[in-house]
Amino acid sequence: MILITGATGTIGSALVRRLVDDGIPVRATTREPDHATFPAGIEVVRVDYREPATFAAAMTGIEAAFLNGVPGPDGTGTDAALVEAARTAGVRRVVKLSAIGTGDPRLAGPGSWHVPGEEAVRESGLEWTILRPNTFASNTFSWLEPLRNGHPVPNLTGDGRQAVVDPRDIADVAAAALRDTAHHGRTYTLTGPTLQTGRGQAAELAAVLGRPIEVTDIAPDDARAFMTAAGLAPAFIEGALIGQTFIRDGHNALLSGDVAAVLGRPPRSYAEWAGDHREQFMVSAREPSQP
Ligand SMILES: NC(=O)c1ccc[n+]([C@@H]2O[C@H](COP(=O)([O-])OP(=O)(O)OC[C@H]3O[C@@H](n4cnc5c(N)ncnc54)[C@H](OP(=O)(O)O)[C@@H]3O)[C@@H](O)[C@H]2O)c1
Repeated sequence: MILITGATGTIGSALVRRLVDDGIPVRATTREPDHATFPAGIEVVRVDYREPATFAAAMTGIEAAFLNGVPGPDGTGTDAALVEAARTAGVRRVVKLSAIGTGDPRLAGPGSWHVPGEEAVRESGLEWTILRPNTFASNTFSWLEPLRNGHPVPNLTGDGRQAVVDPRDIADVAAAALRDTAHHGRTYTLTGPTLQTGRGQAAELAAVLGRPIEVTDIAPDDARAFMTAAGLAPAFIEGALIGQTFIRDGHNALLSGDVAAVLGRPPRSYAEWAGDHREQFMVSAREPSQP
C-alpha cells in the first residue's frame, strides 16, 4: 500500500492514476473525503496538515509515502511532522516533492521553503528520495482566464528561459521512487527537454490551438498588485516575485537528465503537454472586458 498525500492536487492526482493503472494499492489523502473524486478501489483518508493528529491513521500499514506539502512560508513544518508519523508507523520509504532551486541563496524566501522538509527526510533514517521539479507545464492553465476574456496572456519572466516539466513525468518519477529502493538517497532535479521563454510556450500553445495568442509582459509591481488583488498572502507573493525574477535573470536555464535516467525515456515536451490538453484550451473568447 502506498500513501499519496495531496492526492487531489496536480502531482498527487497524476500519481494516483499512475499507481492505480499499474495495479498498486493506494491510500489517498484529502481534507475533504466527501467531496473529492478518486478512481474506484482506493482507500481515502482525511488528513489536514494543520491537524497532525490526523497523520497516524494515514501512515498505518503503509510501505511508502509521497509527501506533497503546501508551498509557502506557512507549510515548512509539515514534512517533519509527516516524516515523524511515518517513522512511528513503520513506513519504509518516503518520497518528498520539493522544488528546483531549493537551498540556492539567490532564491532567498522561496529557496528556503522546502529546506526543513528536505532535511527532515534526509535525516529520517528511512529510505528517501527528494524530487525537485522545475515550473510545471500545467501552470499555463492560468492562461485560460485571459484567453476566455479575450485578453493577452501574462508573461512574468521576460526573456528568461526554462525547461518546464510535465506533471505526468513528475508523477512517473515519483511512482518509480516509491516502488524501487534503487532511488534511495537520491535528489532528482526534474526538467522538461527544452529551454524556452514564456512567449515560446505561448507560441507552442498557439500552434496546437491553431490560433494566435497575444502575450503581454508584466512588470513585477503589476504582478504584485495582481496577486494582492487575488487575495494571496504577502509572504507568498514576495516569494513568487523572487522566483520570477530568478527565471527572468536567466538563473533557471537548466536542463537535467534525471527524468530520462529514471524513466529510460526523454521527458515530455511542453508542446506534447499542450497537445494532450488541447480540448481544455479550446475556449471561445468572449468580448474583451476591462482588465
Ligand atoms: N507549480 C509549480 O510550478 C511547482 C514547481 C516546483 C515545485 N512545486 C511544488 O509542488 C507542490 C504543490 O504541488 P501541487 O501543485 O501538486 O499541489 P496542488 O495542486 O496545489 O494541490 C495541493 C494539494 O495539497 C492538499 N492540501 C492543501 N492544503 C492542505 C492541508 N492544510 N492539509 C492537507 N492537505 C492539503 C490539497 O488537498 P485537498 O484540498 O484535497 O485537501 C491538494 O491535494 C508545492 O510543494 C510546490 O512547492 C510546484
